[in-house]
Amino acid sequence: MDSQFITQFQNKLLEWYDSCARILPWRDNPTPYRVWISEIMLQQTRVDTVKPYFESFMKTVPTIQDLADISEDQLLKLWEGLGYYSRAKNLKKAANAIMQSFNGQIPSDLESLRSLPGIGPYSSGAIASIAFGARVAAIDGNVLRVMARIFANKGDIANRLVKKEIEDLVYELLPTSRVGDFNQALMELGATICLPNGNPKCAECLVNTLCKGYQKGFAAELPIKSKKKERKIEQRTIFIIEYKGTVAIRQRANKGLLSSLWEFPNEVGYLSCEESERKLKEWGITPSHISLSKTSKHIFTHLEWHMIGYYISAQSIQEDSQFIWVNREQVKEQYSIPTAFKAYVEFLNESGKK
Ligand code: ADE
Repeated sequence: MDSQFITQFQNKLLEWYDSCARILPWRDNPTPYRVWISEIMLQQTRVDTVKPYFESFMKTVPTIQDLADISEDQLLKLWEGLGYYSRAKNLKKAANAIMQSFNGQIPSDLESLRSLPGIGPYSSGAIASIAFGARVAAIDGNVLRVMARIFANKGDIANRLVKKEIEDLVYELLPTSRVGDFNQALMELGATICLPNGNPKCAECLVNTLCKGYQKGFAAELPIKSKKKERKIEQRTIFIIEYKGTVAIRQRANKGLLSSLWEFPNEVGYLSCEESERKLKEWGITPSHISLSKTSKHIFTHLEWHMIGYYISAQSIQEDSQFIWVNREQVKEQYSIPTAFKAYVEFLNESGKK
């Protein structure tokens, strides 16, 4: 790559970052701990969603030692609504490993960082560059898109070799100082200007004169990405069962989708009213009233849940049922119920106000 191009690109991008970057809570004091937590929260999650979670996380769990010590239930409650809960579990495992093997200090080299649960190529690059100033790349989806456009690369970014090509280009472009800012500037450009789905704001882009995709007139069509497999659709019936001011919840298995989180009882398929009554009987619950509540849809990475719900007021319950019975306050404050059930948590809150 032409060295004049490299210098111009670095200068223009950092200039733009200095004047236009969003003010984000983890940027003003980028300690390794804050950078680590923010980068894990930002995986697959928008900046605006992450901000309040990051602030309350830092208040409740201000140090690595606190993270190693916190109970998994408390941690999952803090994470409630953020999704991809294995991130939270891995954070805690990594905190234990840091306490045990790294003297309580987050390591600065890529290899040690990658040895920690939940830290892959992207996160290790982000932490090493932003928190420690190491000259390494941090390539997420935003950066892939920006680079594909800058270099008018028509390769399929789902392809490993194309990703590697782009990674090599980023390494050539990395400055020797302010690497963390440079990496964040690339992400920031992708998040605010070089937008996906055919919508880049090229007219507002300070590096457009250096962008081959823009010059050739097809920036909006890039990157090329082969289609993912279609998501499986699963129908589910959710039961909001109320008994003497308490509601039934149960804990999911400790492996697989939404593992260890709490949920309202539910079954695969759309159950009719009669089928639901039979199910309730199996669970040892005698209803005094059954009515349909809401329908809802939740999209996971590889799966969609299409849900119908029943509200049941129970006359009697068997003590040895698989559920625990908790009041609305406990649902809100104590148990981590994933966003997939949000419509039903809201239904419960609304029904409690009547
Ligand atoms: N996405 C992931 N990490 C980010 C960061 N540090 N700044 C902006 N967007 C990001």
